[in-house]
Amino acid sequence: MGDKNRIGFGMAAIGRPLYINLKQKPSTSFDMGAFRQKGTTMLEKAYALGIRYFDTAPGYGMAEALLLDWLSAKEDANVEVATKWGYTYVADFDPNATRHEVKEHSVSKLNEQWEVSKAILPHLTTYQIHSATFETGVLNNKDVLSRLAELKEEYGLHIGLSTTGANHIEVLKKGLEVAVEGKGLFDAFQVTYNIFDQSLANVGTDIAAQGKRLIIKEAMANGRILPNKAYPHYSKAHDYLIQLAEQYEVGPDAIALRFCMDSIPAFKVLSGAATERHLIENLKAASFKLEEEAIERLKAYAVPPGQYWTERKQLQWN
Ligand SMILES: NC(=O)c1ccc[n+]([C@@H]2O[C@H](COP(=O)([O-])OP(=O)(O)OC[C@H]3O[C@@H](n4cnc5c(N)ncnc54)[C@H](OP(=O)(O)O)[C@@H]3O)[C@@H](O)[C@H]2O)c1
Repeated sequence: MGDKNRIGFGMAAIGRPLYINLKQKPSTSFDMGAFRQKGTTMLEKAYALGIRYFDTAPGYGMAEALLLDWLSAKEDANVEVATKWGYTYVADFDPNATRHEVKEHSVSKLNEQWEVSKAILPHLTTYQIHSATFETGVLNNKDVLSRLAELKEEYGLHIGLSTTGANHIEVLKKGLEVAVEGKGLFDAFQVTYNIFDQSLANVGTDIAAQGKRLIIKEAMANGRILPNKAYPHYSKAHDYLIQLAEQYEVGPDAIALRFCMDSIPAFKVLSGAATERHLIENLKAASFKLEEEAIERLKAYAVPPGQYWTERKQLQWN
């Protein structure tokens, strides 16, 4: 029913015990068997709710392995997977770890991670640079770009990149210009977009009109958009979200996701739910459409990207 095919399931929260969020109390114990079981249950629940697009990465701990196991039992050709390369998970599922992932945008890392991720074929349709930046030089690295072009040609993949940080739109624009042997390389862009950071809106329509895929991440600004006391400067936005949630008979999370679906031509908007309850609540975004007046009012709650990303940097892994 509705727009379920526009919602994808992001696996960051179910592949490793810690991820960026607003939780106050980090858990101190970890049961590998129970965690794995919970992850599989979440995949099954997402599927039962109608989700057919799954976003994963080697940097998300056991997420790729979990997905592969689940897919082999599922046997549904309609399931589409996007994964990434460029981050190695190093925390070994230690709930007290302080170092979680190591970034490396070299061709050797690409080849090493591709050797593992290719097991997700034929479900694997989208292969993305995990958090492309100017600093790593990845968008000028000829070896990396040629190898990605080869994979695109050989496996018919959508080659993509994800971006994070105050200059994410500049990185995205640079990605749009990258060509190998005269052919544009990137056709999928996983970008942060939400009520507070709407920078993508200026270029999103044009990118979608070129037939490229926009995949929206962090639709809830890692939880900051949902009513909470830690961010009193967002209280007006929070109050309005509560009002809309009552009006549409859903939670504020569904309003936040729906805002992304209705205000930008997104191919998919990712739910990063960590629990079945959140997944069910998030999916309510597929069952209604925001009125124009609500979209316009929500647009007014955008904050300058500098402020948004300074706050984002201060969030903890919990
Ligand atoms: N490429 C990248 O660098 C990158 C970066 C970030 C994310 N991503 C992808 O995007 C996906 C989604 O992003 P995200 O999960 O990080 O960000 P998000 O959607 O902005 O935030 C999810 C947060 O919202 C909270 N939440 C969701 N539904 C809720 C509900 N019904 N009630 C209360 N709280 C609720 C969660 O809280 P709890 O934590 O308490 O559950 C979580 O902290 C990820 O899974 C990943 O696949 C990619």
